[in-house]
Amino acid sequence: MKVFLVSIFCLVASSSSFISISNILKQTTDTKLLFRKPFITGNWKLNPQTKDEAIELATDIASTITPESPEVALFVPFPFIECVQKAVGDKLQVGAETCTPEDGGAFTSGISPAMLASIRVKWALAGHSERRTINKETDEYINSQCVKLLDQGMSVILCIGETLSEFELNLARSICEVQLKKGLAGVSADDMLRVSIAYEPVWAIGTGKVATPEIAQSVHAECRKIIQDMYGEKVAEETRILYGGSVNPELVDGLLAKPDIDGALVGGASLSAAFGRVINFQPLEETTLID
Ligand code: PGA
Repeated sequence: MKVFLVSIFCLVASSSSFISISNILKQTTDTKLLFRKPFITGNWKLNPQTKDEAIELATDIASTITPESPEVALFVPFPFIECVQKAVGDKLQVGAETCTPEDGGAFTSGISPAMLASIRVKWALAGHSERRTINKETDEYINSQCVKLLDQGMSVILCIGETLSEFELNLARSICEVQLKKGLAGVSADDMLRVSIAYEPVWAIGTGKVATPEIAQSVHAECRKIIQDMYGEKVAEETRILYGGSVNPELVDGLLAKPDIDGALVGGASLSAAFGRVINFQPLEETTLID
């Protein structure tokens, strides 16, 4: 960003027209926002335990959303999808935490994309690290979930990320590359309009250890390069890459100030109305620059 500011300064200094730096920055930021609208998402996992609690929590969260808020989605347990949809109206999207890629048949407990679409669900998660480890979902299985969701006209957040030992071995980039390439196999550039990525280092999920904004930014930038290699610059610029792993109201502003961090996937901190502070984050650096 600093290099960028210097070049803007030189451009303005050498220009005969009277364009203010703040105007240029505003235009540039608007262009970025136009390309990638911030997306704040909550992942309730196996919570809460009753329908009444789900309705109360969703109602509280929805009440924090204003016309200025970013796009918001809540990924909730299957039994609560419809009551939460009713509680939040059009304030936010209600998504599914996973899906079963098969089309029907003998798959006890399965929930297909077609079933989800039939109750107006637009978004689903795929590849969450808990599904990868606890449910032994492979990259191939996750890929078939992505493909089926997209075939159904739905949108997907593909979750990727390395474990602590992989991080310590400096393997974050290569793990993300494998998970992106395998997870998105067969997904067209057009379908990428309905794909967001969530970079969630496994060592930061539910541990209170958050990746610093600098670490997260550097992996996000690498992921964007990988998407560029796969789909070209336009798709890479348009694809939203969310950060996930112990995001909370105190940390969100620093993370979302980074140029390649376009939103958040939030677990624990999405289970109270304080999630409203995450939703209405204030990206410190950008605000300072624009003002
Ligand atoms: P966390 O969970 O915010 O509680 O770390 C994030 C996630 O699992 O998506």
